[in-house]
Amino acid sequence: MNAASPNLKPLTARKSGPLQGVTKVPGDKSISHRALMFGAITVGETIVSGLLDGDDVLATAEALRAMGADITKGGDGLWRIFGTGLGGLRSPGKPLDMGNSGTSTRLLAGLIAGHPITATLTGDASLSKRPMNRVIKPLAMMGATFESENEGLLPLTVTGSPDIMPIEYRLPVASAQVKSAILLAGLNAPGRTTVIEDHPTRDHTERMLRHFGVDVQVKDNKDGSQSISVIGQQELQPCAVDVPCDPSSAAFPAVAALINEGSEVRLSRICINKRRTGLYETLQEMGADITYKHTRTESGEKVADILVRSIGKLKGVTVPPERVPSMIDEFPALAMAAACAEGTTVMTGLAELRVKESDRLQMIAEGLTACGVRVETGKDSLTVHGTGKPPKGGATVKTAFDHRIAMAFLVLGTASDQPITVDDSTAISTSFPNFRTLMEDLGAVIG
Ligand code: S3P
Repeated sequence: MNAASPNLKPLTARKSGPLQGVTKVPGDKSISHRALMFGAITVGETIVSGLLDGDDVLATAEALRAMGADITKGGDGLWRIFGTGLGGLRSPGKPLDMGNSGTSTRLLAGLIAGHPITATLTGDASLSKRPMNRVIKPLAMMGATFESENEGLLPLTVTGSPDIMPIEYRLPVASAQVKSAILLAGLNAPGRTTVIEDHPTRDHTERMLRHFGVDVQVKDNKDGSQSISVIGQQELQPCAVDVPCDPSSAAFPAVAALINEGSEVRLSRICINKRRTGLYETLQEMGADITYKHTRTESGEKVADILVRSIGKLKGVTVPPERVPSMIDEFPALAMAAACAEGTTVMTGLAELRVKESDRLQMIAEGLTACGVRVETGKDSLTVHGTGKPPKGGATVKTAFDHRIAMAFLVLGTASDQPITVDDSTAISTSFPNFRTLMEDLGAVIG
């Protein structure tokens, strides 16, 4: 899509005043993808509540249906999956359209790799630029074959192997998608498949596999890394999955509350898995009043209600690079908080942000600059100079079909002196379809 496309839907946010209320953001995107995938390879009925109905997750559901899983959503909001059993997926009769979803693409590549089937994965303009070699390399070592017209990019044809082999693989980049793709392929391999992580990434695959009755082993190594192993050819047991709400989506109303004086917002049932909460930790270091209430464990994941109160100015901080994987999707939201904070916020170790739904370092820097914020970027770093109050705004910001860039700048627009318009809001439905109404219910002026 380009700026002249008639399909663009610009959206504007205006100075809103205090945000107030109790709200529930949609289900966690990572957990929703995995619930569908694991249900699809289980014999019997898996019932999922709280699944995210976003475009990315719907792309996963559609692909799994095309490979033989029976997946329906009932009038009661529950999703019911009758899977094919481990090894039972079949070749789809058509290319699988992954839309904007990197998680669908990379995890399904792993699942397909362990089946004697062939599938072609396609995606939109943004996904078609994202690197797939990171999954192609280990899955090819296991025995799958790949064809791509554009070296390592979509469209990508994956042919799985009936004799998929277990491997031990050290991740060259911190990526839960790559880890999960290998473990999913390993489910069909004889023996032990091991992924070694130098930097811990989200562990929803490991937790949910255990919830489905699979033995997953995690070992701390002497060099500080962790080895995650699965023994293949274990049948998954059908179960109920209650998907908690998404901390990455909650980031947007949370930051909006913090930058609008006098706000108090309660975000219910958020997944507070410690590999996902780096943003909240960072905001607390910036002086934010954020507390977890009613902490409990549901379907193998820790959840809590998050209470966010704006009690004064945020302060700029330096984010430790080792925290990056636990807040990898939250830098657009954090950058908006940093733009309103007093002092400089320094973020390093962000190379992966250049290969997300857009080059997020560039999109954040261009957008903030247009809104009157002083910003510097490096190859893998971002520095934001806040002045202790919301910036001028008054700009139209480019989003490059990136949902999180669009939501982040709309959040900033609720506090900036002049309105902020995003050139396109359509991508928001990939992860947070009711973003606008939820924010409006809290008092944000958007539209
Ligand atoms: C995800 C992992 C992360 C994250 C993405 C979801 C997952 O990607 O950015 O939104 O569900 O495993 P990487 O594995 O590329 O870091």
